[in-house]
Amino acid sequence: MIKIALDGPSGAGKSTVAKAIAKRLSIVYVDTGALYRSIGLYIQRLGIDKTDKEKIISQLPSIHLALEYKDGVQSVILNGEDVSGLIRTGEIAMYASAVSAIPEVRAFLLDTQRDIAHKNSVIMDGRDIGTVILPDAEVKIFMVASPEARAKRRYLELTEKGEKCTFESVLADIVERDKNDSTRKVAPAIPADDAVFLDNSDLDVEGTVDKALEIISSKVDIEAI
Ligand code: DC
Repeated sequence: MIKIALDGPSGAGKSTVAKAIAKRLSIVYVDTGALYRSIGLYIQRLGIDKTDKEKIISQLPSIHLALEYKDGVQSVILNGEDVSGLIRTGEIAMYASAVSAIPEVRAFLLDTQRDIAHKNSVIMDGRDIGTVILPDAEVKIFMVASPEARAKRRYLELTEKGEKCTFESVLADIVERDKNDSTRKVAPAIPADDAVFLDNSDLDVEGTVDKALEIISSKVDIEAI
């Protein structure tokens, strides 16, 4: 069993790279952002203000979340409903960012994340995987890219899906989310002391995957996974 922690800010390309590596190494890719997004969706549907901590915390007992895998593809199930296709909007990302700053929300999701890593070899993508969720991970990568490079990728991704937005608004959202995620008091998106940095501002997906595999191979014998 192996645990690979892949952390870094929004839009650094973590999910694309993690998916490719999971396939290559035949391990499970865990997208932890989907859990925070699902709680964000639940709160948004109820019309609760995303800054209303007390109300959000009071809803946690009514939320049941599970991750399911079919052919390596993750689905997130919120109270029995597959919400995977509903959580990828800019609006839900802002709700996710807000709820993820609440310690009770993070504690609520801790066991779900650790359980999966306990039962499977994983590459887990998030913000605090190397620092909080899996501090004993064999490999920790902190993936970064400039805000402009990340905004460009996210803009293309959103417009391809037909979501109306401008490059400037996407960049502004990324800068705001970076600030929220890196300055919050609980589990800020900061690298673990033993994490290896991977800056992919000037790399394409293939180049980033190669670099990540290089880092993984330097820590573990990938043929033995
Ligand atoms: O990776 P993502 O864009 O799907 O994450 C959505 C939000 O959830 C993001 O603003 C930060 C938060 N998040 C977190 O705090 N910890 C994680 N492990 C994953 C995501």
